[in-house]
Amino acid sequence: MLSKKVYKELNKHMNNEFFSANLYLNMSSAAAFMGFKGVANWFNVQYQEEMIHFTKFYNYINSQGEQAVIENLKNPESKFSSLLDMFEKTLAHEQFVTACINKLVDLAVKEKDNATQIFLQWFVTEQIEEEENDRDIIAKLKLIGDNGYGQLMLDNELGARVFVPPAASGA
Ligand code: FEO
Repeated sequence: MLSKKVYKELNKHMNNEFFSANLYLNMSSAAAFMGFKGVANWFNVQYQEEMIHFTKFYNYINSQGEQAVIENLKNPESKFSSLLDMFEKTLAHEQFVTACINKLVDLAVKEKDNATQIFLQWFVTEQIEEEENDRDIIAKLKLIGDNGYGQLMLDNELGARVFVPPAASGA
């Protein structure tokens, strides 16, 4: 059973995860449009991961006897000036998500909701990896600068990313 406050905030964050999926789908399309098929692949995998995150919240809310509701989805950004711009916006968005998860944990502790605290632990760990991945790519992009060969090498590297289905990843 969830308190009204916990339910409301979990549902709100479920929608943040759905927004994240849509944002990364837009970034995938923008990267493809710019000619970076590897980057497009990286964001497509990211989109699939966000759909897993969204579904985890959706299933958890429903399993606790409440109704998960899709609401208030804003249009995700679709125009980016460069790959660096795209990844800096990705990191900023992930930092926002991390802050949301931390607030949810604080609320679950305050409400003495042990089940929700345990549910959220997976996301606390996941956010460390999400931010680290973005910071690594941003660092590489800053080193590469305007070097076209460097950009192509990075595009090849990001093109190798593969989506790992939940059963195999433990997600
Ligand atoms: Fe679902 Fe990228 O946080």
